[in-house]
Amino acid sequence: TVGNSTNIFWQESPIGRLERQKLLNQKGCVVWITGLSGSGKSTLAFSVNKELYSRGKLSYILDGDNLRHGLNKNLCFSAEDRTENIRRVGEVAKLFADAGLICIASLISPYRKDRDACRAMLPDSNFIEARLLVDARDPKGLYKLARAGKIKGFTGIDDPYEPPLNCEIEIKQKDGVCPTPNAMAGQVVSYLEEEGYLH
Ligand code: PPS
Repeated sequence: TVGNSTNIFWQESPIGRLERQKLLNQKGCVVWITGLSGSGKSTLAFSVNKELYSRGKLSYILDGDNLRHGLNKNLCFSAEDRTENIRRVGEVAKLFADAGLICIASLISPYRKDRDACRAMLPDSNFIEARLLVDARDPKGLYKLARAGKIKGFTGIDDPYEPPLNCEIEIKQKDGVCPTPNAMAGQVVSYLEEEGYLH
């Protein structure tokens, strides 16, 4: 029995991850960007995607806000639904990494156990957690609404955010100033380069 199903069997394809990675000349992995709403997760994801593209490396973004328009449109922001949101994106990210791509997932992902569960899904520690630790801006006016009590259960206001204890990359402000998107992306791409993901 797997999940709720019985009589299902895993089928192994003759063309595997290694063959695809060779074709793409890169190593598949998941860069998981976590941080508060308005901390610049999507901006960082776009910059990393662009920098990798300019180096001839294939990456693909799984953005929380965007996926909630499709794959995760039936989920809200309760603890259970956030957990299911992260689980689904973790599974999809695993498929992209298996396809040989550098999958950039950008979601608040407020619960440590949910991020750790995604990490555990990936073979050979190809899960790179990048925490954005910068002052959140409020471009969508959501913090204002949450502070006024007009949105309930908003992360960082009346809902928890559990920071990673041991992440691979931490992006911080220097002297109160947030690094530019290019500088942040540089930090991530350098890590990928040093760890041999870009061959
Ligand atoms: S989570 O917690 O990982 O499931 O969230 P995620 O899928 O990344 O979605 C975050 C975006 O949803 C908007 N939004 C909220 N965020 C936090 N708490 C509540 N209650 C909420 N309601 C709506 C918000 O625009 C988030 O966008 P980002 O890009 O993170 O700023």
